[in-house]
Amino acid sequence: MPVTIPQLRQWKQQSRPITVLTAWDWAIAALLDQAGVDVILVGDSLAMVALGYSTTLPITLDEMLHHTKAVRRGVSRALVVCDLPFMTYQESAQQALHSAGRVLKETGAQAVKVEGGYPAMIDTIEHLVQAGIPVMGHVGLRPQSVHQLGGYWQQGKTPAAAAEILQQAIALQAAGAFAIILEHIPADLGHKISQQLSIPTIGIGAGPHCDGQVLVTADVLGLSERQPPFAKPYANLRQTITQAVQDYCAEVKNHQFPPT
Ligand code: KIV
Repeated sequence: MPVTIPQLRQWKQQSRPITVLTAWDWAIAALLDQAGVDVILVGDSLAMVALGYSTTLPITLDEMLHHTKAVRRGVSRALVVCDLPFMTYQESAQQALHSAGRVLKETGAQAVKVEGGYPAMIDTIEHLVQAGIPVMGHVGLRPQSVHQLGGYWQQGKTPAAAAEILQQAIALQAAGAFAIILEHIPADLGHKISQQLSIPTIGIGAGPHCDGQVLVTADVLGLSERQPPFAKPYANLRQTITQAVQDYCAEVKNHQFPPT
């Protein structure tokens, strides 16, 4: 049965943890879907892990659409969510509607994700939700604001900063977001927000008490050159791929492959 947005809320009520991973192409998406991941996020982190940019800022809406179409073709069960990239929704609610509308119409993804909270995003999210577009929020560390934040640092460390993130999460829920990513915040703040909201929280570096967890798949597979402190590699594909390629090159040079 395909995963639905009402089902995510039901899972929160049942304390059934929600699994989320990122994908950037058909092959990865198909593997994640077949392995049973609930939600596949076409995160704009693909700018860094698949396209070689040093931040998420340069990726365009057209590039996100291209990757999301490929992901969607590989998925039959998971809910597919696509990040709206930097400067494709911040200008106005109208701009956000146009960008999010393209995502749903052209890719088949079921929802979009936007970074930021009260007050900037509230009006925009209300407009999207009223138009029937499901929105996932994203607070705490917001990679699209990396220059303003001065790096990929943990957010919400002082009581005032923690209170602001909590208020943002509450405002996003009131605006109609169906779930919220909590990125790189203290675990007790992740816990508090998860307790106060009726919509699911999906943590990444936000402690064990969120309603679900997300990681960037390149980090999970050990494909990234550098990992954030909260990531856990479950495989070392950099090593596996390097070894496989070296073995292939050696066999071709030694006339072992192809066999005679
Ligand atoms: O772009 C992304 O991969 C994300 C996750 C880190 C949540 O937003």
